Amino acid sequence: MSHFAAVVGVPGDPILGLLDAYRADPNPAKLDLGVGVYKDASGLTPIPRAVKLAERRLVDGETTKTYIGGHGAPEFGERLQQLVLGADSTLLRDGLAGATQTPGGTGALRLAGEFIARNLPGRGIWLSDPTWPIHEPLFAACGLRVEHYPYVGADNRLDVDAMLDALQRVPAGDVVLLHACCHNPTGFDLAPRDWKRVLEVVKARELLPLLDFAYQGFGDGLVEDAWAVRLFAAELPELLITSSCSKNFGLYRERTGALLLRAESSAKLADVRSQLALLARGLWSTPPSHGAAVVAEILGDAELRALWSAELDDMRRRVANLRSGLVEALRPHGLTERFAHVAQQRGMFSYTGLTAAQVARLRDEFSVYLVGSGRASVAGMSEERLDYLAGAIARVCE
Ligand code: LMR
Repeated sequence: MSHFAAVVGVPGDPILGLLDAYRADPNPAKLDLGVGVYKDASGLTPIPRAVKLAERRLVDGETTKTYIGGHGAPEFGERLQQLVLGADSTLLRDGLAGATQTPGGTGALRLAGEFIARNLPGRGIWLSDPTWPIHEPLFAACGLRVEHYPYVGADNRLDVDAMLDALQRVPAGDVVLLHACCHNPTGFDLAPRDWKRVLEVVKARELLPLLDFAYQGFGDGLVEDAWAVRLFAAELPELLITSSCSKNFGLYRERTGALLLRAESSAKLADVRSQLALLARGLWSTPPSHGAAVVAEILGDAELRALWSAELDDMRRRVANLRSGLVEALRPHGLTERFAHVAQQRGMFSYTGLTAAQVARLRDEFSVYLVGSGRASVAGMSEERLDYLAGAIARVCE
């Protein structure tokens, strides 16, 4: 008997699969605009200097490799909460918020999904259409009913009215996932007035928001990007936030993130946290330590923190310049207007509006790799390759 005879193959991950295809491509002109990782002008994903310095200190100062607790390192949790909620947050002062360290933002999403499935039975989760392609299978694997609300219209523009209209019909108590900033995959973010309208619907429908906060610092700045998170945390008694340190600290493979929680009372916070620790034990037992120790070291040291935040500012500015640079590079091809949205979008990604067929041609004819939905990682571009990229786009748009 073959135990594995009935196992069928499945297509590779829509994002990580591109990495393999890109690496195997012998074309020296190839361009990887697939997975969301920041690249510098030489095409490398750098380790921020602040991270290197913190790592050196840790190597010298670390005295044990024993387990950290189920919620992770307390100093990481405290400092990350201050970064997300604000150092002067009354929630932190009053003991109404907590953090559970997770393997990356994806780990935090999985923990949130398991928590909802086990502890809030019957609740569905509502995702933007489109959303990060891993959201749907991840929450479905938790056993949740997955639903969608519209986000981008057929003309590749943010459609807030359609979003609000749909949210108004979400069953009371359901969970709504909102991208706190730098919407993945589109790069279209809600304006403050839109967030306030969403908040009103969330309150009226008694929805539980899950704010996915994977790109803090890549939109307009560390504080600016936390605006919606802090608004929701101040206005709502209960809230889930998934925070990632992958992009803003350049720690991708170290899998560093947290599930943050705002509860109505410190007693209820303790109850929910006890459930999270139990669930985490069954998922990864205790979280990996290194990346979180680096983040705690940086956030706890004024000098390292200033260095890191300046490096993050540089990354953000560079991506913003690449956005406008691409639109300019498309000018000789008469495509500036058609792609003007690229310069207006926020964060690492652009929902280009290119079709799946055009994306396939970019890959096959020009070795330019985008996600099939037409998402391009602007953070993967470089100044001197913009003309090549613009030329390739122009050809597939003919
Ligand atoms: C992406 O969307 O490319 C990033 O969030 C990386 C990932 O894990 O998919």
